[in-house]
Amino acid sequence: MTENPTVAATFDGAPLLGVPGRSVGAALVAAGITSWRTTRRGARPRGLFCGIGVCQDCLLTVDGVPNQRACLVPLAAGMVLESGDGHA
Ligand code: FES
Repeated sequence: MTENPTVAATFDGAPLLGVPGRSVGAALVAAGITSWRTTRRGARPRGLFCGIGVCQDCLLTVDGVPNQRACLVPLAAGMVLESGDGHA
């Protein structure tokens, strides 16, 4: 079996390894991180839900740009990912 190549990014300052080209959301879930923002009402945890860019539950900040959909953004080396409330 061939190992997938990995790239290093950071999530809230901690190292995050993942397969280049797969989604940021996939890398987070593979690392055991299932929520990275909370809802405005009730502060309920959110992460991947639809996985296809529709629900916007997976919003996070990518390289300083807020409100990016983790399920659609491909993971790349050196990426700086930050959790947050997902609201600009
Ligand atoms: S999980 Fe629904 S938009 Fe990303």
